[in-house]
Amino acid sequence: SKYEIALIGLSVMGQNLALNIAENHSIAVYNRTEAKTRKFMEEKVEQQQIKASYDLKELVSSLAKPRKIMLMIKAGEPVDLVIESLLPYLETGDIIIDGGNSHFKDTNRRTKQLAKKGIRYLGVGISGGEYGALHGPSIMPGGNKEAYQEVEAIFNNAAAKTEKGACVSYLGPDSAGHYVKMIHNGIEYGIMEIIAEIYDYMRKVMALEPAQMSYIFAEWNLDFQSYLVEITAKILQKDDPESGKKLINLILDKAKHKGTGKWSVQNALDLGVAIPTINAGVNARLLSALKEERVENSKDFPAPDSVNVNNELIIPRLKSALYFASVIAYAEGFKLLQAASKEYNYQLNYQEIARIWEDGCIIRSAFLEPIQKSFAVDNDLSTLIKSDQFKDKLKAAGADLEEIFTTAAVSELALTALHAASDYFNSLKSEKLPANLIQAQRDFFGAHTYQRRDKEGVFHTEWEA
Ligand code: 6PG
Repeated sequence: SKYEIALIGLSVMGQNLALNIAENHSIAVYNRTEAKTRKFMEEKVEQQQIKASYDLKELVSSLAKPRKIMLMIKAGEPVDLVIESLLPYLETGDIIIDGGNSHFKDTNRRTKQLAKKGIRYLGVGISGGEYGALHGPSIMPGGNKEAYQEVEAIFNNAAAKTEKGACVSYLGPDSAGHYVKMIHNGIEYGIMEIIAEIYDYMRKVMALEPAQMSYIFAEWNLDFQSYLVEITAKILQKDDPESGKKLINLILDKAKHKGTGKWSVQNALDLGVAIPTINAGVNARLLSALKEERVENSKDFPAPDSVNVNNELIIPRLKSALYFASVIAYAEGFKLLQAASKEYNYQLNYQEIARIWEDGCIIRSAFLEPIQKSFAVDNDLSTLIKSDQFKDKLKAAGADLEEIFTTAAVSELALTALHAASDYFNSLKSEKLPANLIQAQRDFFGAHTYQRRDKEGVFHTEWEA
């Protein structure tokens, strides 16, 4: 009999997702390199309803109609190439699902092109890494709604579950799913950097050992329930099997990235939305990449002597910093989602997005419950900092940042994301910003005109007259 779905691309993510789907649905799999498929079938597949296919035509013909074909391949050109090679075998009404980290504009283009050919397209963000793919990821689908309804059962079964349901929900038309995944990753970059800066403070200012930091992060995480904090605590415990030293101390401090954080920032600028904390996460990776240059420069600028801080007093403040900056990272991300929803007509439901991020994905945490409550009251809430869920706690935590910033400054420590979060908050709650001076400068050198506080209209001044 025919198979319910096909999956193309047997990287670790693809393999694990196929195994996950196969628990409830029959699935046919294909990979460009045959050997990978054979190895997967021999080593990973046991009794599951998984059929290996070594030919695209045969893969397509083994599927029930309308065919559902999921791509788990590298974002970019490979997706176009695979779609191109599938097309000759597809019929009107068939469904292609892109489960990779595709750029949302590519997804829009593919959706349009394929619609002309009668093929229905779904751009689906999937988060949760290898483990999530196998045991339940967070799934962010967008695109053709009728097509979604045909794969809904498969996604529901595969997704992570909370008591509120499966961590999957139709998010909106076109690239809504891939857009939301991109912002998920932007927030991921922000929170990773926030945690990294707190780690940097702990080692450089407080002179703590990784095992001590691990204990602190684990303790905080009783409240935060954050996956990224949880893995940080585990990372800081890990010994290098060869040397017996802490592995973290042996890892080169040069961070890589595959684009989704950068895309978030690029698109934020396009939409005129500030996401400085997320941007700090991207910039910090770029600066980290300049390792050789940094080592060279450090000879001219030796690190200052360390300051004495009272660890007992400072640890709760670092916890506040983690709380504060994390909330801001989410706040920036959701504000960008709101702007994008307007611009691209996604009609996003933010409570629902926070709900499907509660489990399975990389940014899952206890923050997502109050975020849901905030948007339940008002889907158009202008910013999470105004929510009753966060307002008072942000005020208190903001005050706690001061001592961290002062002591970090003495140690010449870069806390870019923490500063960005604090400055974002301070700007967004400022009745007055110095933009009056910016306007005057613009008008001075370029006659760009300005508006006034005391009367209506547009004004220009001959500044040197
Ligand atoms: C996820 C992750 C994942 C992402 C990696 C790598 O939600 O499971 O976001 O999709 O690809 O985290 O991202 P970078 O290589 O850009 O750090």
